[in-house]
Amino acid sequence: MQVNGEQYRTIWLNEDGWSISVIDQAQLPHHFKLARLTTLAGAVKAIGDMTVRGAPLIGATAAYGICLAIHADASLDCLIHAATELKAARPTAVNLQRVVDDLAGLLKVLPESERCSAAYSYAAELCDEDIDNCYHIGTHGAAIIKDLWENTKIQGQRRLNILTHCNAGWLATVDWGTALAPVYLAHNNGIPIHVWVDETRPRNQGAHLTAWELAQQGIPHTVIVDNAGGHLMQHGEVDLCIVGTDRTTRSGDVCNKIGTYLKALAAHDNDVPFYAAVPESSIDWQISDGVSQIPIEQRDAREVSHILGQNEQGDVHEVSILGSDSAISNYGFDVTPSRLVTGLITERGLCEASAYGLQSLFPERFND
Ligand code: MRU
Repeated sequence: MQVNGEQYRTIWLNEDGWSISVIDQAQLPHHFKLARLTTLAGAVKAIGDMTVRGAPLIGATAAYGICLAIHADASLDCLIHAATELKAARPTAVNLQRVVDDLAGLLKVLPESERCSAAYSYAAELCDEDIDNCYHIGTHGAAIIKDLWENTKIQGQRRLNILTHCNAGWLATVDWGTALAPVYLAHNNGIPIHVWVDETRPRNQGAHLTAWELAQQGIPHTVIVDNAGGHLMQHGEVDLCIVGTDRTTRSGDVCNKIGTYLKALAAHDNDVPFYAAVPESSIDWQISDGVSQIPIEQRDAREVSHILGQNEQGDVHEVSILGSDSAISNYGFDVTPSRLVTGLITERGLCEASAYGLQSLFPERFND
């Protein structure tokens, strides 16, 4: 995607052939800065402190984290250490666990001398595949938007209103995004779209990242507080919800940023179609029940007690919003049961949020 007229991915290999650059998402929207990753520890920290975030991008960063570890020391001990450190960085997105297990499994059986180039090839292919998959999610999702637009009575009166939660745009992937890829393609195809952007407390990925992304691409949008979605749906102001996912079960339960479940409940109550954009890399084929089986990340209390913003002098500051030392809980994700999900938009097409639906698109995963 373009930033100030220049083409970017969120992560890339530098010209030195081994170090990695990423967009530093913790600085957005106030500053557009890049960060250079040169060590395993740097990659682990970038995932943990959310310099990079979003399930597919976390997976890509983990792959390059292994590359950086192996670049320094290609021994089996180093590989095992790198895998353990990376997998502990964030627990909920299945992409991270899957990439680390796959790549470590592949490298283990190679001679030490071949591990480094094999790791870098794997990471480069993973990034290219991620872009391709997101683009296809975009085309399938754009078809849903087109259908809705052509069959709606609002044509000529207002734009089509799409609500999204958190950031599942290109910043959360290598490029294109998942939930926002259909928005970008439908917009390019001339459908007048307006996006309701949930601010997404506590880290405000909606206000900080989704709003920035949409502004960069010239897509009309409005930031709303997380509690506004239900009200807008009751008043007919939301035509469609599209969210991303960090882990979707083989039965179609969708785990995504905390607050997604409440939006799905409101959408269900108001007959608003609620879709999840799901690359196969975010499907956990091992589990069926999202509520009991997905580990939900709990993050630092400071994300709730403090908020980051820019003052009128242009300085970015964190300020406390709590007056006392009240107890704080900070769950990062929740699970939307499949019954509340209208459909899953995958790179292979659209399906019902159920084992039956997923089997129709990924039969090879249901052979056992
Ligand atoms: O905590 P984050 O910012 O990593 O959470 C991101 C999300 O919840 C996204 O919706 C999800 O990773 C899908 S990204 C295409």
